[in-house]
Amino acid sequence: MRNVIDVVDLTKKEIYDLLDTALDIIKKPKKYSNKCKGKKLATLFYEPSTRTRLSFESAMLELGGSVIGFSDPDSSSASKGESVADTSKVISCYADIIAMRSYQEGAPLVASLNASIPVINAGDGGHCHPTQTLTDLLTIYREKGTLDNLTIGFCGDLKYGRTVHSLIGALSRYENINIVLISPEELKLPDYVKQDVLDKCNMRYKETADLEKSLDKLDVLYMTRIQQERFTDKSEYERLKDVYVLTAEKMQSAKSDMIVLHPLPRVNEISVKVDSDRRACYFKQVANGKFVRMALILKLLKDKNFIERRLGDDVIFNKHVCKNPRCITQTEQELDQAVKLVDKEKEIYRCVYCDKQV
Ligand code: CP
Repeated sequence: MRNVIDVVDLTKKEIYDLLDTALDIIKKPKKYSNKCKGKKLATLFYEPSTRTRLSFESAMLELGGSVIGFSDPDSSSASKGESVADTSKVISCYADIIAMRSYQEGAPLVASLNASIPVINAGDGGHCHPTQTLTDLLTIYREKGTLDNLTIGFCGDLKYGRTVHSLIGALSRYENINIVLISPEELKLPDYVKQDVLDKCNMRYKETADLEKSLDKLDVLYMTRIQQERFTDKSEYERLKDVYVLTAEKMQSAKSDMIVLHPLPRVNEISVKVDSDRRACYFKQVANGKFVRMALILKLLKDKNFIERRLGDDVIFNKHVCKNPRCITQTEQELDQAVKLVDKEKEIYRCVYCDKQV
């Protein structure tokens, strides 16, 4: 049984295989129309979604399977206090695979430790969004013909943008990648991503606040929304919300073959006028999301390898307490605190559920 909680749960070869399957599905959809007949996907969405939930649901329907689930936790027994662990055990009696989205960072990991069916993380707080990453990789692969030798600019809310964290993790496996991190000081990439991914993998990156000056060097521009729902100080959101707006004028200084991606939803960070530019690929990205999720559902339902459901031997229990208010350890009943030592010299421990330093 396999779960996909973080993109690093997939090897580089598995990612290429998934992209190949997605490309085959695009070419020959009929070949796949009955592959999941008799199988059920449960979509457990504790947080709003348009693309991820509906693309998962249409992916399963197009594979000949069916779908159950909830899109509003208030209509589920979560509103009566049912834990993520109990919910996962219950859903395992009804479905064959789970896609879960949560405000709480680490909730899909807790689900995967308790379910007896595969669990896919469909986005957990500001932490990870691995299936968006597969969507992004498929789009880059289709548009640029490669995942190597690229300069990729990430612009906007790099602090809370979980799609950015997951995509940087995936890109660390490819050759000759240059990363340009474009954000205001307050929304810089979290240290744990810098230390655990960029520094550890010796990736070339630079940080800047200037979008205009960066544009002409980029092969891919990955725009993001300022994530209003993750700010505790609303005045800070108001101050930062219009910090970057990509306009048709600014696009004039970009390369003729640069592509613009955005996980969507967009608020105002890309002018609607940019949509007609052939380099704007964010709606193609949406379409790719369904195909790559079809490939992932197929893979996980076919995979008979048993992977023991437990945290690794290097995990230390109940010695340190995670203070991240969005971490699942804050709310889940009787969940042990669990950390990993990630830097012996500096004695840096991280929570295994949300990856924040404790
Ligand atoms: N990209 C993405 O996750 O969109 P939704 O929040 O609409 O699912």
